[in-house]
Amino acid sequence: MARSSSKYICQQCGYEAPQWYGRCPNCQEWGSLVESIIQEQKTKNIKHKEDRVTEIVKLAGVKEEGLQRISSGIKELDYVLGGGFVLGQVVLLAGEPGIGKSTLLSQVAETMYAKSKQKHVLYVAGEESTNQIRIRTTRLGLAGERVFILEETDVDSVTSQIRQVSQIGLIIVDSIQTLSTDDLVGMTGSVGQVRESASRLISIAKQHNIPLILVGHVTKEGTIAGPRVLEHMVDTVLWFEGDRSQPLRLLRVIKNRFGPTDEVGIFTMEEKGLVAVNDPASHFVSNVKNIPGQIATILLEGTRPILVEIQALVVPSKLAIPRRVVQGVDVRRVELLLAVLTRRVGASLYNYDVFVNVAGGIQVGEPAADLAIALAIVSAWANKALPSCTAALGEVGLLGDIRNVAQFTRRAKEAKRLGVKNLISHETNTMLVDVIRELRLRTSK
Ligand code: TYD
Ligand code: MG
Repeated sequence: MARSSSKYICQQCGYEAPQWYGRCPNCQEWGSLVESIIQEQKTKNIKHKEDRVTEIVKLAGVKEEGLQRISSGIKELDYVLGGGFVLGQVVLLAGEPGIGKSTLLSQVAETMYAKSKQKHVLYVAGEESTNQIRIRTTRLGLAGERVFILEETDVDSVTSQIRQVSQIGLIIVDSIQTLSTDDLVGMTGSVGQVRESASRLISIAKQHNIPLILVGHVTKEGTIAGPRVLEHMVDTVLWFEGDRSQPLRLLRVIKNRFGPTDEVGIFTMEEKGLVAVNDPASHFVSNVKNIPGQIATILLEGTRPILVEIQALVVPSKLAIPRRVVQGVDVRRVELLLAVLTRRVGASLYNYDVFVNVAGGIQVGEPAADLAIALAIVSAWANKALPSCTAALGEVGLLGDIRNVAQFTRRAKEAKRLGVKNLISHETNTMLVDVIRELRLRTSK
C-alpha cells in the first residue's frame, strides 16, 4: 500500500526538507526547493526484486510495430508531428502569451474528429471561461459539435472526469500552469504544482491511450515557465513563435519521441484564425521587381528550404554615427558585412544610414543569407537593381570570401523549382568583390 505526503526536495542536491526555505539547508542553493509528492511504500508489501525479473531480448529479434497515427485534421500540424498524433502521445505546446496557442488548439479540437461519429475532444479550460471559448470559436466559425469544455483548475477533478467520460479522443489542457492539486500546499503555477499536475494528466493519458496536449507558457527569458522537467516528461515539445505585430507564425518541433525534430509548420494569423501557408515563396517574396536593394535567398527552416527576399535601403546619413536599422536579421551580422564591404570591396558605407529587412516577417538565424544581405546593400547603395530571377546563397567571411552553406544542394534545388535562373554562390565565385564586379555594381564612390 502506498501512502503519500509532500516534502520539499532540492533540485540541486536532492535534499528532502520538511518545509520550504529560501535556500536549501544542505547545498545552500537559493530557490531550489520544490514541493513534491513522496510515495511511502510499506516494505513488507514489496516483493523481493529477484521475483520480478524482466526478460532480456535480442534487439534483432524484436518485431517492429508501426505507429498508429491519428490526423489532427490540420496538415501543417500533422507534418510537424511526423504524420499525426500517436495514441497516448503527450505534447507540450509552448509559446508567448497572445501568439495563438488557444486559437490553434480550438481549430484542432474542431478538425480532429470532424469526420468521426463517436470520438470527442475534451478541452480543459483553466484560463478562459466557457463563454470566452465560445466567443472565440464563433469568431473562427467553428461549430463545436465534437468538443466538450471543462472549466476546471483542480487536476484531480479533471482526471476523475476523464475516467468517467467515454470516447475521448484528445485532451487539451489550456494551460498546465493553471492546474493544481490539493495534495500540495504550493501556489498554483509553482514548480511543484505544475510538475505534479502534468504527471497526473500524463499517467491518465498513457493509461487510456489518449493523445494529450498541454499548453505551457513561456517566460520573458524565453523558457517554458514552470519546471524545465516538463520538457523531459512529455513525448513532444512544440514551440509556437512569431512576432505578434506580424501575421507569420512558425510551429517548431523541439523534441519528438515519435517523429523527426527540426520540422517547421508555417501559418499566418488571419481574421478567421490560423491559416497554413502552402506556398511560402509567395509569402516571403514581394510582388515588385527590379528595384535596387532587393534579392532573394534560400533559408532553411528545419529541413524546409524557404525562398525569402532580403531588402535594403542605403541613404546618406546626417548623423555622426550612421544608423543601422534591421528587421529579421542580426544587426551585428549586418555590421560585420558592412565592415567587409568597406574593407574588402571598397564600398565605403560609413557615412550612410543602412536599413535591412527580411520580407514576410521571418527571422534569419543563419549566416547563409550573408551574401544576399551584402548584395542587397551594395545594390541599394549603387542604386542599381540586380538582374531579375537572381538569388544569392552563401556565408561571407571576414576576408570577403564566399563560403558554402549547410544543405546547399537542397536549397539550390528549391531555388530552381521556384524559377531562380541565376544562383550566386560559392560555386559561381569565391570572392565577394568579384561578384560585385561581375554584376557591374559600383564598388567605390
Ligand atoms: P490566442 O490564441 O488567445 O493566444 P494564446 O493562447 O497563445 O495566448 O490568440 C490571441 C491573439 O490572436 C489575439 O491577439 C487575437 C488574435 N486572433 C486573430 O488574429 N484571429 C483570430 O481568429 C483569433 C481567434 C485570434
Ligand atoms: Mg490562450
